[in-house]
Amino acid sequence: MAFFYPSDRNEYNSAIMAIAIFLLIILQTGFAQTIISYSNFTYTETFSRPNVTESPPHVLDIKHYADGTDTAVIRIGRINYYDGANTCLEQMLLLRILQTNGSVTEINYNNTDKIQEINYCYVNSNLGVKTPISIYPLFDKYILVTYTYATNVSDNTTFMDSGMVIDWSGNVISTIEFGPSYLFPNSSIWTPNEYFVNNIDPRKGFFRLSAVRGTNNFEWRQYGYNGSFNLLQNDTFLTDSTNITNFQVTVLQSLDNGYYIVYAETGSQDSGLYAVKLNYNKTTAAKFLLYQFAPNITLISIFCSIDYVYVGHSCYATMVNMTTSTNTTMATTEKIRFLSDGALLAENQIIPYEYSSNIRNLPLGGYVIISRRPFESIIEFNFSLYNEKNQLFNYEFPPNPIISNSLGVFDILHNNTMLVAQNESSTTWNLLSIQLPSLSFRNDSNLPLYVNATYPQNGSNNLTVNYNNTINITFQDPVSFANGKLYIYQPSSQGNILRQFVDSKTCTQCTALGNVVTLNVYYSTFDEPNGKYFIQMDYNFVQNSMYNEAILGIDQYVWTFQTANTDISQGSIDSGDIWGSLRLNKDGTQHFQELNNSEKSNFISTLINELTVMVPTENGRLSSNGHYQFNDNSKSNILISLSINRAKNGEKMLNTQLAKNLNQLIINGEHTCISTGTTTIYLDYNNGFQQTSKNLYIYN
Ligand SMILES: *[C@@H]1O[C@H](CO)[C@@H](O)[C@H](O)[C@H]1NC(C)=O
Ligand SMILES: *[C@@H]1O[C@H](CO)[C@@H](O)[C@H](O)[C@H]1NC(C)=O
Ligand SMILES: *[C@@H]1O[C@H](CO)[C@@H](O)[C@H](O)[C@H]1NC(C)=O
Ligand SMILES: *[C@@H]1O[C@H](CO)[C@@H](O)[C@H](O)[C@H]1NC(C)=O
Ligand SMILES: *[C@@H]1O[C@H](CO)[C@@H](O)[C@H](O)[C@H]1NC(C)=O
Ligand SMILES: *[C@@H]1O[C@H](CO)[C@@H](O)[C@H](O)[C@H]1NC(C)=O
Ligand SMILES: *[C@@H]1O[C@H](CO)[C@@H](O)[C@H](O)[C@H]1NC(C)=O
Ligand SMILES: *[C@@H]1O[C@H](CO)[C@@H](O)[C@H](O)[C@H]1NC(C)=O
Ligand SMILES: *[C@@H]1O[C@H](CO)[C@@H](O)[C@H](O)[C@H]1NC(C)=O
Ligand SMILES: *[C@@H]1O[C@H](CO)[C@@H](O)[C@H](O)[C@H]1NC(C)=O
Ligand SMILES: *[C@@H]1O[C@H](CO)[C@@H](O)[C@H](O)[C@H]1NC(C)=O
Ligand SMILES: *[C@@H]1O[C@H](CO)[C@@H](O)[C@H](O)[C@H]1NC(C)=O
Repeated sequence: MAFFYPSDRNEYNSAIMAIAIFLLIILQTGFAQTIISYSNFTYTETFSRPNVTESPPHVLDIKHYADGTDTAVIRIGRINYYDGANTCLEQMLLLRILQTNGSVTEINYNNTDKIQEINYCYVNSNLGVKTPISIYPLFDKYILVTYTYATNVSDNTTFMDSGMVIDWSGNVISTIEFGPSYLFPNSSIWTPNEYFVNNIDPRKGFFRLSAVRGTNNFEWRQYGYNGSFNLLQNDTFLTDSTNITNFQVTVLQSLDNGYYIVYAETGSQDSGLYAVKLNYNKTTAAKFLLYQFAPNITLISIFCSIDYVYVGHSCYATMVNMTTSTNTTMATTEKIRFLSDGALLAENQIIPYEYSSNIRNLPLGGYVIISRRPFESIIEFNFSLYNEKNQLFNYEFPPNPIISNSLGVFDILHNNTMLVAQNESSTTWNLLSIQLPSLSFRNDSNLPLYVNATYPQNGSNNLTVNYNNTINITFQDPVSFANGKLYIYQPSSQGNILRQFVDSKTCTQCTALGNVVTLNVYYSTFDEPNGKYFIQMDYNFVQNSMYNEAILGIDQYVWTFQTANTDISQGSIDSGDIWGSLRLNKDGTQHFQELNNSEKSNFISTLINELTVMVPTENGRLSSNGHYQFNDNSKSNILISLSINRAKNGEKMLNTQLAKNLNQLIINGEHTCISTGTTTIYLDYNNGFQQTSKNLYIYN
């Protein structure tokens, strides 16, 4: 069956290829050949339906969450019929959530009134030939799905661009109407034309840019989140100009929670690459010239992202000189770097000989140029890697060229893994998960590039449990504290346990001196011998102090280490059980008093269970006789009895140490997991764990 190809424009003529190959050979010398590792992920679809059961599931799109989890959302579809003009897919939105541990969650959304059949047939759009549906993972379990809604599917003028946010259970959280769908000026030809980007802090919302029906103008909209997704600001962006012959646009998140519209105008007096900066929740726009085009230069492709290596943002602009014919002219690519306030940092030509509309910054340094060549019903997918010095990286990758599916779908995750859809067969779809190398010439190639060193060192396993630890991070450039959090976690089978977090805006026991930040760690944080830990850092925890520009964070599981397997009992002998009490705060006291007797007893056992996980300690080490009383005659706070039982054989901590850790954990409750529990939030942090000479025995 005739199928569709992505609209890549990366076939070159043979003269360019010959020169390119010549240059590659020269550049390759001096690099050792690295073997790139990969794995093959296969998923078998199990559901059957009339009409489409024989049709293989195609991977239509891959997108990832920007929250550091590297969770990918894969949209698949099965061909249903060909209507004489277009190929149409089964009328069901099929999303597969692929988590880092390989687990897959299926979303099969089949409300056909909401997402009408027109959304499942291929059309031309600004993103190439595709179905009108697009997916954008937002944060947590939220995914924005955009589509078109028609009150009369035979009448294009009734088409409205729409969106809905769904969660992993397929529940619709918000429905959004964006406005009339784009129709070409003076015609009723429908061609979806919209761009989305998340805020750098995805919980703050997202940005949409779309062509305005019947004009060459664009409208932008900023959406925010406060339990649902709402329009914050919108405005129209005028590009109507009779002498523009070529207009290209893209959108980008800025590091200060705003957005950039980056566009190129050629053919006019003011030919150049421009950036329009929009601050978060503001309508004022500031326009900057990023790059002036010489006469007869035309832009072919533009790709912009956060700069993972230095500071600010970078764009790759690929252009050709139209004076000589396009076919025999070599494309050139400029890399342009700029800050959130529009200041231009640098601009340099990077690749004089290789051209593709798919060039991507890599999170661990360097960039990749992807070539996708249609061949019969598949795409031959190849990639070239370049380091920060624009040198070609010579690698060995046995599956090259990858036999990708008819769309050549791919995505690059924040952990530097590239996912490429392979040609599907009968009931399965496959992804190649390719671990791209770090192209940054550093010892610890897993840490982000703006980090030079950390203490504890990444991957170390000998951190002493000495109760007055600090952690430090040495950055490439001088930094100062900004406004973000850093989290210390212990991964566990029941989910990650938050041991401590540091808020850089309010932190008092933190210093930032030159390139180094040092943070004090609570007594209770690294208390578990042989414990596994990882540290996650938010974007904007620190900023580059030369440019006052936020620095990206450290994703989870990247900076990992282990405490030493020391015997922390140091030969001491456990004394008897320790009795004591925990005090509830005002809210807790009120909440507790409103419970009936069996609810009270549940509250206390939940409290014991939560604390056992949080300390952490073995089951049975913490217990309560279930007694409680007011702390004094004013009856303002309730005390709950808690005892710490002596260590039995093989149990890690003496009860005196447990008591100390528990006390520390609660006293610092505002910045430990105590503030995340369902019952522990009701503890009075000021009180900690108070030892008593006897067990409490009075009921009130
Ligand atoms: C990945 O697995 C699928 C299904 O087993 C197979 O068809 C495909 O050839 C494999 N790809 C590679 C590159 O090994
Ligand atoms: C099955 O395919 C036919 C065309 O071959 C199409 O008209 C019909 O709508 C399809 N049925 C369903 C349930 O999608
Ligand atoms: C990166 O994330 C992907 C998807 O979650 C996962 O399959 C892969 O193993 C991860 N790679 C590394 C090096 O952690
Ligand atoms: C993968 O991780 C998720 C979330 O942490 C968890 O719910 C799921 O059970 C895990 N799956 C497997 C196969 O370990
Ligand atoms: C839908 O649009 C078509 C084409 O414009 C028109 O002929 C038809 O009457 C419209 N249907 C309704 C219910 O308005
Ligand atoms: C902003 O959005 C509203 C609601 O959709 C619309 O009526 C208005 O025309 C838009 N304003 C601009 C300047 O585009
Ligand atoms: C956005 O700005 C408006 C005022 O223009 C303000 O009322 C609103 O609270 C702001 N929303 C957010 C999320 O900052
Ligand atoms: C474009 O090509 C022409 C003819 O080779 C040359 O004279 C001109 O300088 C080139 N323009 C640029 C900006 O390189
Ligand atoms: C631009 O290109 C056209 C042909 O493509 C040529 O006629 C014209 O002289 C060129 N202009 C400049 C300034 O190079
Ligand atoms: C893909 O890469 C391989 C190995 O580098 C090369 O032999 C092949 O010609 C390339 N194919 C394409 C389509 O560029
Ligand atoms: C790709 O998959 C289709 C079936 O979906 C099969 O007919 C075709 O031969 C495959 N192509 C290659 C090159 O493997
Ligand atoms: C980081 O902390 C460790 C342990 O306290 C210390 O040995 C090291 O010198 C510190 N590094 C810097 C750059 O301050």
